Amino acid sequence: MTRIYFNEVVTRDGFQIEPEFIATDDKIALIDALSQCGYAKIEATSFTSPKAIPMLRDAEEVMGSITRVPGVEYTVLVPNLRGAERALESRADELNLVMSVSETHNLANLRMTREQSFAALTDVVRHVDGRTPINVSLSTCFGCPMEGDVPLAVVQQWAQRFADLGVRGLTICDTTGMAHPAQVSRMVEALQQQLSHTQLTLHFHNTRGMGLANVLAAVQGGITRLDGSLGGLGGCPYAPGASGNICSEDAIHMLDAMGYDTGMDLSKLLNVARHLPAIVGHEVPGQVAKAGRITDLHPAPAYVAELKGAAHD
Ligand code: COA
Ligand code: ZN
Repeated sequence: MTRIYFNEVVTRDGFQIEPEFIATDDKIALIDALSQCGYAKIEATSFTSPKAIPMLRDAEEVMGSITRVPGVEYTVLVPNLRGAERALESRADELNLVMSVSETHNLANLRMTREQSFAALTDVVRHVDGRTPINVSLSTCFGCPMEGDVPLAVVQQWAQRFADLGVRGLTICDTTGMAHPAQVSRMVEALQQQLSHTQLTLHFHNTRGMGLANVLAAVQGGITRLDGSLGGLGGCPYAPGASGNICSEDAIHMLDAMGYDTGMDLSKLLNVARHLPAIVGHEVPGQVAKAGRITDLHPAPAYVAELKGAAHD
């Protein structure tokens, strides 16, 4: 059975686009509940500028108060050296550096050119110097909402530059749900061939309803690490039209049904997911938490028993 490793991003990617501040205690309680569900990794928060992402201005408090469960890695998003110092101070298990492969989106999101971001992130890698594993999330790999198509060769070039710096992993992000399954198949084939020593994670948004189809294309192409967001919350505030990530519990439910080993306790996860609307104050896109699992059956109406009885008479 193929093992699939899930990284839960709801309290980072999921919450950063929410309009109402979510209380620090609610974030901590949610991360603690998610820690009991079997995740390989949880992206707990980001060490970005509190002006840019006010929702995550409590990153230190969150990282300092969660209960760390052995076997779960607690990772944090980091845009620059200042963020890396804060993340190290908070004893994050991994630093998830971020830049966009689209010049326009990188300027919109991080206020730097790609070359400036690369230089800043190179400084971070040197500064960390192997003390903590580093992952790099590359945004807009499947298309930029402002520039359009991003050639595969451009993604490969940035991926290679970070692989050459010796980072442990790369996350290939479809920031605004522009990927389609055929493109995903081509991308994962090319990158796995190119980067055999780098952990590859795929990060999809369901903006155009292709999220689970893209998950399937990735997994069938050999990818074993996925990002997902509880309830399907999420989106980058600096990407026009961004909306929710793939819904973790829906993706896990699908892969479980197909016989993949996700390592997840889906019943526990669905219980956590059912509390999410109360935390964010609105309905969420996830479907399995509402519909139940395919194994959750319903009693037949009484007249069906009568009809069955009549058929036997
Ligand atoms: N943590 C806390 N504060 C930070 C910071 C960090 N990592 N990096 C910069 N700042 C502060 C600076 O101290 C400065 O504060 P001041 O105005 O009180 O003096 C302010 O932010 C601006 O700093 P500057 O270095 O000029 O950065 P910038 O304005 O060019 O912003 C980023 C660059 C990357 C810090 C900012 O755009 C950012 O945090 N973006 C978040 C991107 C993000 O998370 N997007 C969604 C996920 S992909
Ligand atoms: Zn995202």
